[in-house]
Amino acid sequence: MGRTVSLTIDDRTVTATAGERLLWVALDNGIYIPHLCAIKEADPAASCRLCFVEVEGCPRPVTACTEPVRDGMVVRTRSPQIDRLVATGFELLMSVHRLDCAHCPKNRRCELQKIAARRKLKLRPGRLAVIDRNLPVDESHPLYNYDPNKCVLCGRCVWVCRQLARAGVLGFAWRGFERRVTTFEGRPLGEWDCSACGLCVEACPVGALALKEAAR
Ligand code: FES
Repeated sequence: MGRTVSLTIDDRTVTATAGERLLWVALDNGIYIPHLCAIKEADPAASCRLCFVEVEGCPRPVTACTEPVRDGMVVRTRSPQIDRLVATGFELLMSVHRLDCAHCPKNRRCELQKIAARRKLKLRPGRLAVIDRNLPVDESHPLYNYDPNKCVLCGRCVWVCRQLARAGVLGFAWRGFERRVTTFEGRPLGEWDCSACGLCVEACPVGALALKEAAR
């Protein structure tokens, strides 16, 4: 058991174990920080860039999912600079996310909706052009569908498929704008010897991987 430390987040004093990641300490204490890519049990990928906070003494904002807590730390989850960074990161994500909430199985349980509501952000980006990648939806699996047009590349499904299900069906392919979650050689999910454990569907924060209507 590690040493107990005391820190301040948004003027609230909380205790934690030294070295714990700030994101989880904040969330465990009911302090919301936007996040998409973090998994408590995994090393942080820090790819979504939504969990920025200010830490007294640090010259620049830091990502809460990578920042270990220390005794005496003073953290702010909101400031004009933080709000700008989060809004820009969110807008970038939403500019390539196919928005179809009314027909999305994740409607009302979607992390994007939650972030927008908590930070008073619009789901439709105002400043950026919306790009629909128009990628084919994979409906080949008997239990779930995969819509890459909704994927935010958080990598949660890839991690659970590898580390928890030990299946390794899902992975990342390509780079930059072309980057996406897919299977080896892009073969349809239904062709894989997948146990249909459903962990990837559970892990997806946005409804890119979702149970078919008949399986819900
Ligand atoms: S949750 Fe920290 S960068 Fe995604």
